[in-house]
Formats: sequence, C-alpha cells, structure tokens
Amino acid sequence: MDTFDTLTSEKELFSPSKEIIKNSYIEDYDKLYQYSINENEKFWDETARQLDWFKHYDKVLDYNPPFAKWFTGGKINIVHNALDRHIHTFRKNKLAIIWEGEDGKERTYTYFALYRQVNKFANVLKSFGVKKGDRVTIYLPNIPEIAICMLACAKIGAIHSVVYAGFSVDALKDRILDAKSKILITSDGAYRGGKIIELKKIADEAIKKAPVVQTVIVVKRTEHGVSMDSSRDFYYDELMKLPIASSYCKTEETDAEDPLFILYTSGTTGQPKGILHVHGGYAVGTYISSKYVFDIKDSDTYWCAADPGWITGHSYIIYGPLLNGATSLMVEGAPFYPYPDRWWKIIEKHGVNIFYTSPTAVRGAMRYGEAWPNRHNLSSLRILGSVGEPINPEVWKWYYKHIGKEHCPIMDTWWQTESGAFLITPVPTMPLKPGSCGKPFLGIDADIFDENGNSCESEKGGYLVIKKPWPSMMRTIYNDDKRYEETYFSKFGKNIYLAGDTAKRDIDGYFYVMGRIDDVIKVSGYRLGTAEIESAIITHAAVAESAAIGKPHELKGNSIKAFVVLKPGIEKSDSLMEDIRNNVGTHLGPIAKPDEIEFVDSLPKTRSGKIMRRVLKAREMGISEGDLSTIEED
Ligand code: PRX
Repeated sequence: MDTFDTLTSEKELFSPSKEIIKNSYIEDYDKLYQYSINENEKFWDETARQLDWFKHYDKVLDYNPPFAKWFTGGKINIVHNALDRHIHTFRKNKLAIIWEGEDGKERTYTYFALYRQVNKFANVLKSFGVKKGDRVTIYLPNIPEIAICMLACAKIGAIHSVVYAGFSVDALKDRILDAKSKILITSDGAYRGGKIIELKKIADEAIKKAPVVQTVIVVKRTEHGVSMDSSRDFYYDELMKLPIASSYCKTEETDAEDPLFILYTSGTTGQPKGILHVHGGYAVGTYISSKYVFDIKDSDTYWCAADPGWITGHSYIIYGPLLNGATSLMVEGAPFYPYPDRWWKIIEKHGVNIFYTSPTAVRGAMRYGEAWPNRHNLSSLRILGSVGEPINPEVWKWYYKHIGKEHCPIMDTWWQTESGAFLITPVPTMPLKPGSCGKPFLGIDADIFDENGNSCESEKGGYLVIKKPWPSMMRTIYNDDKRYEETYFSKFGKNIYLAGDTAKRDIDGYFYVMGRIDDVIKVSGYRLGTAEIESAIITHAAVAESAAIGKPHELKGNSIKAFVVLKPGIEKSDSLMEDIRNNVGTHLGPIAKPDEIEFVDSLPKTRSGKIMRRVLKAREMGISEGDLSTIEED
C-alpha cells in the first residue's frame, strides 16, 4: 500500500520534571497499562465506580461483536455527574465556565449558575414537547449557551446533534434530515475574524430544504437584527424569562446505554456519518482520560481551544472537564485576531494551567514568531496538548520551547469522533518523543496490522487497529448498523476496530500516526470527505464533474485541490473559478473551499466509472501513479 511511507522516529527523549511527576495521577504507566489490559473489565469497572450511578450496573461489558454495550442495567446521567453532584460540594461556587468573546466580552458561570441555567433551559425544551430520545439540532457558535443547550438536552434524555457553526446550508440540512430534528437552536450570528457569520439566515435556508423543523430558538449574540418567523421562531432570552423556565428540572435517570448525542463526521461517501454516543460509557471515558492525561486539579484553569461543534469540544471543553469539576475556558473567534498574541494574552489573563490546541494553530503562531508569546507571562502553564493531525517534530519543539518554556509536557492525543475519548496519548509522566502520540491509553488495546492482519514489527507502517472494545466508543452510526459494521469492522473481522489511519510503532512502543487510508482530508485539523466537497462543487451550474484531493500544506497540514470538468460550451475563467469556490462555501462551509481549482477536460476513472483520486494525487505530487491498468481516460 503506497500510503505506508516511512517516517523517521525521533530519537530525542523529553523527560518530565520532578514537579510534574510529583503531581501526576499516574506514577507507573507501564504497570497500570498491563493491568488495564490483562484485567480489562475489572479496570473499567473500577473506573466507572468513580462516577455516581442512580442504579449500579449488572454487567460491565455485554459484547456481541462488533456491537458492545457497557455497564448494562446501570442507570446514570452524564449531567448528574458533570453538574448536579458538584453543587452539593465546595465546587458549588467554583467557576465551571469562563467565556471570552471575540469582542472582548467576558462571562463567567459558577457550577451553581450553570446548573440553574441548564435546569431552566431543560424546562423550556420540555415546554416545547421535547422528550427522552428526541433529537435536538444545535447550530451555535462558541458561546456559553452551546454548553447550556447540550447539557439541558442530556439532562432530560434528549439527544443533541451539534452542527459546527462553520458549516453551511446543505451540511446543516443533511444533518437535520438525518436526525429528523423537530427543533433547532441557533443564534442571530457568530463573530469570526471581525466578521459576522449569518447563522440564522443559513438556518432559515436549511429549514426550507428540511421542513421537519417546527421550532427554532434563537440566541442573541451579534444583535444585528435578523428576520423572525412568528409562527416558528423564539428568542432564547425571552423564553428563559417566562414562568415555564423554572429553576428546577429533574435529571432523567437514563440507562447507561441510552443515547447522549449524535455528532456527524465525514467518511468515504458524501453522506456524513451520525456517530452515536451514550450516557454511561462516554462519561467514563471522557472523565478518566481528562483526569489522567491533563492531570486536572481543582485549582486548575483549563483551556481547550477547539470549537464545541467538534468532538474535541464535546469531550474536552464540556463533558470531560465538567465531569472532573474543573474550570473550563471557552474562547470565541479566530486565534490571531485582532492581534497575533490574542491567545497568549488570554493565557496570561486567566492564568491558564492546561492548554490544548491543534498543530495547525501552533503552526499559525510560529508564522508570527516567538516575539508574540514572549510578550506575555505564560508561567501558569503546566501541561500542553495537541490534537487533530500529526504534529511535525519541529512544530512540537517550537511549542515546547516558546509556549511551554521547556517545562510543560505536550500531550499529543490521538483519537477520533468515533472513539469519544483519547485512544493513544502520552500521560504527563511518560518521556516524550516529538511527533509521536505516545502509547495506548489505559484499557485500550491498540496495534498496527499489515494487510493480512498480522501485527507489524517495529518501524513498519500499517493499519491502526483497536483489538478490544472500550466504554466511550460509538455504539453505531445513527440508523445505519450496516454501515457501522462495514466501515469499521469488515477488514479484519468483527472484533477488530479499523481506525482508518496508518501508523507505525518504534522499538520503544511509541506510536506515530501517518495519515488516513480513506478519502478523508484533514484540513487544519477539520475532517472533510472528498465526496462531500465534490458534491458541493457540482451544485454549481457550470460544473459537470469534479474530483478533490488533499495536498500536503505547510500551515494547514493539508490543502484541498479540486479538478473540475466544465459543462460543454462553458468558458474557463478566473472569475468562474472564484465563483465555484464561493459556492462550496455557501453549500458546505468556508472550511471546505478548495485552495486550488484546476479545469481539466476529463478525470481518470476505473472501467466501472469510479474516479481515481489516487492517480490525480500521484500526478500532483510527481510520484509513481502505481498500477494504472484499470484506468480509462476519455
Ligand atoms: O487521522 C486522525 C486525525 O484525526 C482523525 C479523527 O478526526 P476527527 O474525528 O475529526 O477527530 C479529531 C479530534 C479527535 C484521526 O483518524 N488525528 C486526530 N488526532 C491526531 C490525529 N492524527 C495524528 N495525531 C493526532 N494526535
């Protein structure tokens, strides 16, 4: 397989300081890891007991490969664990969320204040008839209301489906239709890079194409005036003032296996996959991974700079930190706007102790140079994190030196929307190798397989697989058990989870993730499917056909290049190119706009008519095109 190109393992080791070792929850990773694998169910049982259960489970694991159920017979609600239980402790008046807007506005919520808001909004949802198992689509920017709405859904057993606010009309429409949500929560607009993104307008367009939505709740953020349909639309702040929004709502005693949320992610086909997570296992996984990997303590201010609309935000802005009773910082807007030191200023201002971001953001910061972080006192930082794409060793070292000042270990966490929580990651006491995401997390049986399903020897690239189920794994693809089985459990059988990434392991057992095996492109850490991009391109009236590929990009990890065949008689022009790009922005979202478009007369295809993106990519990169015997180009 040509994607298994070799990567040189870093020989340099970065050992944790005595201070880090002294404060860490995990002293001896190797010993604990062995135990967690040898006594896998016992380990997860002991972990699950750290949470509150309304009724203790009968069984730890109920496994009917490839379908796993965890903690069956148990009653638990993630919101009881993330909020309710804290308000009876010293955490009642502790800050749960600190929020900073792009316009400099700041809001804070203690655990008790957040609890009150969640109770109130849960009652609002109930008043609209939302019941356990109903799906609620949330299309909001990075503002505290997104957390309140998600938690309010979970509290009453409704299933939230958050759609990232950078997605546009068709992406939102597809997700509403798949989930069949009768209710949509959005905002008038969102701020990003000084501009207003017209979320309400996009939502109106999407609902025209997805008329299942009967109620729209609109949070005021930009207050720039939007059109409201009086038969359907309500302002959030007005609803929260009504008597229906009373301040106590009973937390539903959900089954451990009751659905908590759907989060759509890209795969090989154009139809996004609704990844389904449940209350019990997801709570256990996000709780323990936040605790052990970020070493969260009660005195910490923790900042995950992702957007809540992606899995990183779900698990590590909202659920994981709140389950640990931590203070979680949410920051709206673009990282380096209005100044390149915005983030470093925020770290100093709030005394952030744990900071978690993506390699793309670090590369962006590097471009501006170290003078910007050097202007600020970053001495509060203790632990750094990275996620979303491989981090190049030189970027790792810059992050370590200029942000972590050579004393903060970097947790390069490898995981996925599907996994719910970290799968392969260092822990703070583990010596680090730049570019490696460390070793499997406790309880995770990770391996690298060759084409025949044999474990690869060290330094050999292969398929990254997980050989045992784990509590926070997705339960299925919403309404599509067959696709779940075919996508993840067909290559090596029903017991082996195929992650979709290639990786290798070095002689010391450190993992290095190399890239995707499918038609997924990671652009600035965002996960996009080539088929989704192509579908958006051909919505343009001038386009007959298209093919999208990912190309290595210095800043974004990958950029998108699209090859476009125009309809007969249409003239190629630069303005048409720009128009096609913008059309992708309108349909799918600005993040999916191709960086480059090349007009071509035809696309390479197999005899059965499938576009051979592999060939386009090889040509683009000037490498061997492999076996071309099945190609047909007319
Ligand atoms: O290819 C891997 C890459 O991101 C994919 C999962 O994307 P998504 O579901 O959007 O979740 C992103 C946040 C967890 C993986 O299959 N990926 C994620 N983390 C890393 C990574 N690649 C290398 N190193 C990582 N730390």
